[in-house]
Amino acid sequence: MTTIKVPTPHIGAQLGEIAETVLLPGDPLRAKYIAETFLTDAVQFNSVRNIFGYTGYYNGKRVSVMATGMGCPSMGIYSYELIHGYGCKNLIRIGTCGAMQEHVKIRDVVMAMGVSTNSNYMDCFKLPGQFACTCSFDLLRKAVDAADAMGMRYHVGNILCSDNFYHPETPATGVSWADMGILACEMESTALYSNAAYAGVNAFSMFTVSDSLVTGEVTTAEERQTSFTDMMKIALELA
Ligand code: HPA
Repeated sequence: MTTIKVPTPHIGAQLGEIAETVLLPGDPLRAKYIAETFLTDAVQFNSVRNIFGYTGYYNGKRVSVMATGMGCPSMGIYSYELIHGYGCKNLIRIGTCGAMQEHVKIRDVVMAMGVSTNSNYMDCFKLPGQFACTCSFDLLRKAVDAADAMGMRYHVGNILCSDNFYHPETPATGVSWADMGILACEMESTALYSNAAYAGVNAFSMFTVSDSLVTGEVTTAEERQTSFTDMMKIALELA
């Protein structure tokens, strides 16, 4: 595997300061909150561009948490540097998504078994066709087991990784993503899953539904916090 020199251009940590398992929220303040709330003995390893990263312990297991920013270009940079610079092996995105099916409700957990996309991110691999991004089966199985044990409401399936949060009002053409069974949309997992696939490491994305593209519903800040905490309980079982 290609390696890059550390500190990398975007992560100011030394080798050994980042755990093999890294939880990846989009928001830097979420990373700080997770470190302060769920980890013990957390030490901050990054503040470059205010993309906060911390390493600590959960139930005696060493785990890191670092923000990725929004969109595939940003996730592409951080996941690449974590994998090729710091040797990270389990990269777990914890984010929010917009529901694209009626049965996917606000605050539900969505686990991305597969990721479809409208992004050109994977053009960098110059593949001779379309690549189907899939998660680590091992991480998915552990997440499903943890969610079942805690009696949580979750969905497993295909999601859309979109380059656009805002869309112009364009007329629909052809078949919609929802028609193809896509559960929800977000903006980073194509970069994460494809970088992990190329490097032979494990990736998994999990979300709470923050809004519905079907009903127009949105969560309140308080609801987001509660559902986020539920998802964190699953994520920490993966460490
Ligand atoms: N679109 C893209 N990403 C998202 C959304 C959305 O509606 N909601 C949360 N993340």
